[in-house]
Amino acid sequence: MRTRRALLYVPGNDRHKIEKAITLGADCICLDMEDGVALNRKAEARATITKALRELDFGRSEKLARINAVGSGLEKDDIDAVLPYRPDGIVIPKIETLEQIQWASEIIEAAELAHGWPVNSIRLIVDVETAKGVLNLKEIAAHPRLDALIFGAEDFAADIGAVRTPEAWEVFYARSAVVTACAAYGLQAIDMVTIDFKDIEKIRQEALFGARLGYTGKQIIHPNQVALVQEAFTPDDESVAHAKRLIAAFEAQQAKGSGAFALDGKMIDLPLVKAAERVLERARAAHKI
Ligand code: COA
Ligand code: MG
Repeated sequence: MRTRRALLYVPGNDRHKIEKAITLGADCICLDMEDGVALNRKAEARATITKALRELDFGRSEKLARINAVGSGLEKDDIDAVLPYRPDGIVIPKIETLEQIQWASEIIEAAELAHGWPVNSIRLIVDVETAKGVLNLKEIAAHPRLDALIFGAEDFAADIGAVRTPEAWEVFYARSAVVTACAAYGLQAIDMVTIDFKDIEKIRQEALFGARLGYTGKQIIHPNQVALVQEAFTPDDESVAHAKRLIAAFEAQQAKGSGAFALDGKMIDLPLVKAAERVLERARAAHKI
């Protein structure tokens, strides 16, 4: 699966921002037709996105297109407009049921077959950002075309009537439920947006906290968030060195017949080895090792 640490939204009707986005080295660029676009600019966004997919080289950045929610009345025109230009993936917001994913997956498969593209090559990523979406995570997360779930904190808070606070405890249950569903089904987990995009330290802290919760990436909205979010979701040198040392020590101890042992005054056994392996997996995914 490809690396998705920083998923940058770009309003689909803004050609200047799209052109800028492809120069930033973001892992994923999500050309938005949903909430980043005013209602009277939806058609313009579709046209601008299809033109950009046709004309621009996105380099190593993944090309994603976010359609409007299933049931909005806009979703069919959105998906039909972008699919012929072969985005790498479709993002569906406000997902609540497995049927909504199946609806999109069938349309995508028909396009893949019609164009002679490998079936399942266009991936799906969905935003879980409503109470119903969180309650239905178990069935939603099992769909085979999915690569990742995105947690949307602002929509979720609005849906349940919570007030957003800097600590984000009001969304903690849902934030944790999404990352748990991702782990259960082998998906990537993409954390909430930090809307105060000028507050660099806040973004860094929120990204690091998300990474500690188990998230593999984060949604971003501004160029100044790309590098620091990528860094927050890449294990640092110290964590990589420690993980390697722990695994080497564990292997040596296993050979000697001990399952649990002490390293630097801490008890080490299999769960810690698994955690160390996850650190190395993430470092490899980020081409750090
Ligand atoms: N992608 C690419 N380029 C972006 C960008 C983005 N998401 N956000 C800002 N830029 C560009 C600006 O166009 C500007 O370019 P320039 O220097 O060549 O003129 C530069 O980065 C600096 O932008 P800045 O002036 O700091 O911000 P702004 O006032 O232009 O835009 C926002 C602020 C929040 C409106 C803008 O960042 C944005 O549209 N973000 C995405 C919002 C979105 O899609 N939301 C829905 C999903 S949550
Ligand atoms: Mg949303």
